Amino acid sequence: MTVITCIEDLREIARKRVPRMFLDYVESGSWTQSTLHANRDDFGHLLFRQRVAVNLEGRSIRSRMIGEDVAMPVALAPIGLCGMVHPDGEILAARAAEKHGVPFTLSTMSICSIEDVAANTTKPFWFQLYVMRDREFASGLIDRAKAAKCSALVLTLDLQILGQRHLDLKNGLTAPPKPTLRNIVNLLGKPRWMLGMAGTTRRTFRNIVGHAKGVDDPSSLFAWTAEQFDPRLNWDDVEWIKKRWGGKLILKGIMEPEDARRARDSGADALIVSNHGGRQLDGAPSSIRALPAIVEAVGSDIEVWVDSGIRSGQDVLRAVALGAKGTMIGRAYVYGLGAYGQPGVEKALEVIARELDLTMAFCGRTDIDKVGRDILL
Ligand code: GLV
Repeated sequence: MTVITCIEDLREIARKRVPRMFLDYVESGSWTQSTLHANRDDFGHLLFRQRVAVNLEGRSIRSRMIGEDVAMPVALAPIGLCGMVHPDGEILAARAAEKHGVPFTLSTMSICSIEDVAANTTKPFWFQLYVMRDREFASGLIDRAKAAKCSALVLTLDLQILGQRHLDLKNGLTAPPKPTLRNIVNLLGKPRWMLGMAGTTRRTFRNIVGHAKGVDDPSSLFAWTAEQFDPRLNWDDVEWIKKRWGGKLILKGIMEPEDARRARDSGADALIVSNHGGRQLDGAPSSIRALPAIVEAVGSDIEVWVDSGIRSGQDVLRAVALGAKGTMIGRAYVYGLGAYGQPGVEKALEVIARELDLTMAFCGRTDIDKVGRDILL
């Protein structure tokens, strides 16, 4: 491995190694990408207060998320098509998370299935649910997550319909990629990826194929979500899903205090302030900007977490300072995965943990659980 000192280093290597269509998919935001950019920019505008002459020995960034011990308040977010960024990507990322001591969330739209990940890890992971029109299939997913001993269900509420990301349409994104001339030319430049893919049987949406009725070709995420995701999803569904699942429930995609109150009233264990990485409603504010009002509205009743735009330990600390009990990272770990597989995800986590620890120290603090708004200007 060349010397990696930040997430951007991993991104550069991933750009060389991962087929263009899959990294474009991960990186894109919807339409003008204004929300995608705001997610990053608004973190940069939050300034720390430097403190000095404080005893910084014995620091801790360990915390808890929904009662689970975590090495830092960071979980790996659900990422669709993760196993196309790197062969067996979800299994490798889950193993890296396990090794580091942070939670891993498997997406419904993953390549490796719930069963694949369960068979290749030793600790419980979290499962993210998309609700399909076919309720039998949706219930089946919940039951499979239960059988796999997943320790939390992450229900995504902001993607009943899919935001338009221009590059995905232009690239003709499918999993596996269709053998068009353009794809073949691009893939010829990615020998490592080709070799790895030839060595695994996990090349399409394995949570779906062989489980959903009448699905012959789910390779196009777009066609499939347009047909199968249930646009009727509403708060009544949260109720039956919670009942059917019976375990820890996390609601993802909350941006408004009014929705946050509904989330709290639903009895969920945590909510995630998220605009889906700027991939859904373009023109929405950044998640970090939406966070304080939601913490104020419900923060003492339910764990409030945040995702979208986190690329460093400094960003994690900013989120915690604004009242987030936890965070999720997506692209930041996928860059590591695309660059080096499992060791790359481990590296991404190490980078973020180190940045978090040192930044907290420069702010004159030694315990992440005691960090508050006053570390920011
Ligand atoms: C799915 O979660 C996506 O953002 O594409």
